[in-house]
Amino acid sequence: MKILITGGAGFIGSNFIHYWTRKYPTDTIVNLDKLTYAGNLENLRAVEKLPNYKFIQGDIADEKLVEKLFSEEQFDLVVHFAAESHVDRSILDPDAFIQTNIVGTHNLLRAALKSKTRFHHVSTDEVFGSLQKTDPAFNEKTPYDPRSPYSASKAASDHLVRAYFHTYGLPITISNCSNNYGPYHFPEKLFPLFITNLLEDKKIPVYGDGTSVRDWLYVEDHCSAIDCIIRKGQIGETYCVGGNSEKTNKEFTTKILVLLGKGDEMIEYVTDRPGHDHRYAIDATKIKNELDWEPSVTFEEGLERTVKWFRENEAWWKSIKSGEYQDYYKKQYGK
Ligand SMILES: NC(=O)c1ccc[n+]([C@@H]2O[C@H](COP(=O)([O-])OP(=O)(O)OC[C@H]3O[C@@H](n4cnc5c(N)ncnc54)[C@H](O)[C@@H]3O)[C@@H](O)[C@H]2O)c1
Repeated sequence: MKILITGGAGFIGSNFIHYWTRKYPTDTIVNLDKLTYAGNLENLRAVEKLPNYKFIQGDIADEKLVEKLFSEEQFDLVVHFAAESHVDRSILDPDAFIQTNIVGTHNLLRAALKSKTRFHHVSTDEVFGSLQKTDPAFNEKTPYDPRSPYSASKAASDHLVRAYFHTYGLPITISNCSNNYGPYHFPEKLFPLFITNLLEDKKIPVYGDGTSVRDWLYVEDHCSAIDCIIRKGQIGETYCVGGNSEKTNKEFTTKILVLLGKGDEMIEYVTDRPGHDHRYAIDATKIKNELDWEPSVTFEEGLERTVKWFRENEAWWKSIKSGEYQDYYKKQYGK
């Protein structure tokens, strides 16, 4: 297969490229990424010289570029990761979220439709809003109720993807996934921020009283779920993907502290973000029953692997925290 992967220089996209090139070494991958602050070509050093891998720096919101790419290459599949993905940034500056997550997704859909290319859209459980402690977990039938500019823009993109199936017959699938963690996770996000701060002997900021709840999924399991949906999923369908690992922020913070040999004095409680969703949880029964997929990595195992990866890849996260990583592609691409 020839696959267009968007956002392949980001956290999940780069993990997916490593996963796919290992599992399907004869497939061709074209990685289209704008290289925003979140895109890092260092994530792809291990694949960049493969003859069947190509990187294109470009913006999915650039209609002409997307159209030209689809007219020059015959893709069998699009796996769409590219997004503005950080909730805090969406609160400060929503515009980029509208451009990339909505306009960009629409450009890809329009181009994919011309060639009827199979389209898998990677989305989030945040489109479903927030749960109270005893509410049942989100599933594929939960009504959308996004509450941040990030989740609202992802919700809009999901609706567009579904509309292209119902209206024009574009062969699509969608996955709505819970919080990921693992290698190459950008250190402004909670999990890697905590690990790297503690490795540097710095305090870790915990929002509010630490009682908000998230379901955590090891990133490689997310990759295998997308693979499974691509191979076995029913066209037009949505699949919720979760890790069966609901944890309060305080719970996972304690686990990280223990693994890194630190105490509670490293916690600094900070003011909660506006409109902070209290709880996300995923009911992944559909993908389990229909596609026989389940997460294979427990939270404890995934956390150990992740801490080990960050310990062993200090140069990677230090260059991001210092801003040096952007020099690498300035040198390569002059931008
Ligand atoms: N991280 C999570 O826990 C999580 C959970 C569920 C769903 N998701 C979804 O998975 C996808 C990937 O998330 P992530 O955490 O890897 O994000 P990320 O922010 O780490 O990476 C996003 C990538 O997209 C690229 N990009 C941004 N705007 C672009 C544009 N206009 N054109 C081309 N490329 C652009 C960036 O350069 C970056 O490489 C997103 O769609 C996100 O909504 C993420």
